[in-house]
Amino acid sequence: MTEQAYGYFDDQRKEYVITSPFTPSPWINYLGNDGFYGLISNTAGGYCFYRDPKFRRLLRYRYNNVPVDCGGRYFYLKCDDEIWSVSGRPVPTELDHYECRHGLGYSRFIASKAQIRTELTCFIPLGQTAEVYRLHLSNQGEQDKTLNLFSLLEWCLWNAEDDGANFQRNLSTGEVEVDGSVLYHKTEYRERRNHYAFYGVNQPIQGFDTDRDSFLGPYRGFERPLAVEKGQAGNSIAHGWSPIASHHLELTLAAGESQTLVFVLGYVELPVEYKWQAPGIINKQPAKRMLAAFDSDEKVTAELAKLTAYWQQLLGHFHIQSPDERFNRSLNIWNQYQNMVTFNLSRSASFYESGIGRGMGFRDSNQDTIGFAHMVPERVRERILDLSATQKKDGSAYHQYQPLTKKGNANIGGNFNDDPMWMVLSTANYIKETGDFSILDARVNFDDEEGDFDHFEHLKRAFSHVVNHLGPHGLPLIGRADWNDCLNLNCFSEDPNESYQTTERGDAKVAESLMIAGQFVLYGQEFVQLCKLTERHKLADWAQQHIDLMVGAIDQHGWDGQWFLRAYDARGQKIGSQENQQGKIFIESQGFCVMAGIGLQDGRARLALDAVNQHLACEFGIMLQQPAYSDYDKYKGEISSYPPGYKENAGIFCHNNPWIIIAETLLGRGDQAYDYFSRISPAYLQDVQQLHKTEPYVYSQMIAGRDAATPGQAKNSWLSGTAAWCFYAASQYIAGIRPDYQGLRIMPCLPSHWPSLSVTRQFRGAVYQIDIANPHGLSQGVVDMQIDGEPVPGDLIPYARYRGQHKVQVRLLPPEQG
Ligand code: GLC
Ligand code: GLC
Repeated sequence: MTEQAYGYFDDQRKEYVITSPFTPSPWINYLGNDGFYGLISNTAGGYCFYRDPKFRRLLRYRYNNVPVDCGGRYFYLKCDDEIWSVSGRPVPTELDHYECRHGLGYSRFIASKAQIRTELTCFIPLGQTAEVYRLHLSNQGEQDKTLNLFSLLEWCLWNAEDDGANFQRNLSTGEVEVDGSVLYHKTEYRERRNHYAFYGVNQPIQGFDTDRDSFLGPYRGFERPLAVEKGQAGNSIAHGWSPIASHHLELTLAAGESQTLVFVLGYVELPVEYKWQAPGIINKQPAKRMLAAFDSDEKVTAELAKLTAYWQQLLGHFHIQSPDERFNRSLNIWNQYQNMVTFNLSRSASFYESGIGRGMGFRDSNQDTIGFAHMVPERVRERILDLSATQKKDGSAYHQYQPLTKKGNANIGGNFNDDPMWMVLSTANYIKETGDFSILDARVNFDDEEGDFDHFEHLKRAFSHVVNHLGPHGLPLIGRADWNDCLNLNCFSEDPNESYQTTERGDAKVAESLMIAGQFVLYGQEFVQLCKLTERHKLADWAQQHIDLMVGAIDQHGWDGQWFLRAYDARGQKIGSQENQQGKIFIESQGFCVMAGIGLQDGRARLALDAVNQHLACEFGIMLQQPAYSDYDKYKGEISSYPPGYKENAGIFCHNNPWIIIAETLLGRGDQAYDYFSRISPAYLQDVQQLHKTEPYVYSQMIAGRDAATPGQAKNSWLSGTAAWCFYAASQYIAGIRPDYQGLRIMPCLPSHWPSLSVTRQFRGAVYQIDIANPHGLSQGVVDMQIDGEPVPGDLIPYARYRGQHKVQVRLLPPEQG
């Protein structure tokens, strides 16, 4: 454990320890696992919501504010003349000690000032719709102390978008009730809402405030509330304006004495007939039950233990021991954790996504599943079928859907032509993990067609959608965009008020994508395999013919001499070609064509990846394209709108780096694959925290590329497809522990300096302890395997033979010895 500028890893506790409240950007964590979620920064900023961050937001949070990260779960202490915050902000008072420990599903803030030590632990207990805050206070001085403690939350008026926009209405709707130590937020409860929120503490209080302006005082911010300065709450009752919840407690701590308080911020939903306990008085029974469940330190400690056990169990499905501590830390703890967070939130709510814009993305959510199918397979099945239900009868998909309604998002619509095939990936990967072919028979309607359809039919239509949307070269039409949302070839926008993603001009029958071509061949082959495994041989033949045609089209029109082209634009001109001045080479088509196996036999794959190394790789990762576009070009769209080096315009868009990592392993180049992995993986960036800016424990969407003013600076952390893909690449292609229909394959492609590797993998009812020895310093080799001491031919652990615990011993041998 070495201390760094802003923090360090504590692997023992599976925590990241932040040692300054003033990190380069707010470094956050996520709370909650099942419907109720919170985001919490290293100074306790952030908010929580029930299922939908737009429609059921409990706490108000201001994006784009100064200072950043304003609003959260705040606790003020006043002792003599000192005032401070137990989480390091918003009061700027310097603390004698500050520490934020982000752990799996909880965050803990340890502070000391004026010889008062505080430890605040925030978490969402399993299965609860509440955030619990346990506050330990201890007097470490020689004298008795009297403290004034103030809690503070600011309520969001439920609909987060209206809350920041519709002031003529929402300045008049706020309503509260106060009952002992519990402050209720019942805005709009009188009309159509059957839900309220409350904030309670397990002790009698001195006073309270529910009106923000009374608490803060005129023209004051969170950093200097008048009530705290005076040491006296105003017992204000909010009528409209901005309702808050603040408790005031006066505490006396003898020298050496400690106390624990438990605060609960809860959310309650009631059937209409039980909403009221008396006219105008809300039914408080459910709130009281929730409060009673957490009214002592012991109960809270027990809940925290359950949470720890929950994570222990989840992370136990895959555990790796390599010679590289950073690789282990990344895969065993933070990457899998980030995968679960992206499962829960998709791209909806982060410190970059305001939670009012996007729903769940079709392409993003399908891809995300490859990062957690091994942990929560039943929930993956459900997620895939939810996505399937938003597909349209022609095989296309709504680009996004809203989690509350599970309905496709009409404002954005569809026509992103890579969308459909991602469902083949998610489904095939799920079946390989679980062996559950019955998902193919699950009944699911199309969004625009009712009938008796099974999920398999959805995959078939996804495949057919590509077949039915080919362009002049027999390559897939791109539609609004493929994976790269910003390569908008049918948009031609000259109006700043238009969306690049939803504006379509022309007939869209010309612009083609080599990325979708590669994707179609790769996942098309998976589709063929699924057809064969379910005895649909005619369909398999039909599909194979279309794949062969596509390979032919790529060979004929998609190879640029040294690498794969990226696209043809709406005028039929090449993108990603030597002929171009800028944007000569792109990453996506190299990744997808090589992953699909194109050019593996004839050397083109090697050429393409060498070109990636020569033109796209830089110190901080692999850039999306080169050279960057210097000017806006309406025939390319949003990609050329960004300054060079940022986002899709030659930034390192981390999501696609693992495609190249996987492609490198297909060529057997384990050293190169590992090298690329270590350039973007956060565990390796511990020493460049200041430059990197975002959390050093999770992947970010983008790292600025070589052309940027600030190369190496990351943005948009947490909710990114990078997490799932990096885990998939590292666990299945570098470590090479790869689920397949018949069992678990062992196909490592290691950095050659690793002498050995061990993996514990739970798979279909068995637990395998896999020890791989690499005595010859190879990347790839012939696998020599014994299971429980018995030699087993090939690289497959046939699942059907095993239950319980098994020892798998593998030696990697040079081909001549294998
Ligand atoms: C964002 C989007 C994702 C897209 C990527 C590249 O991450 O969520 O859908 O593929 O950007 O444009
Ligand atoms: C993706 C892109 C981003 C674009 C957005 C539009 O997230 O990364 O640059 O603005 O899509 O939806």
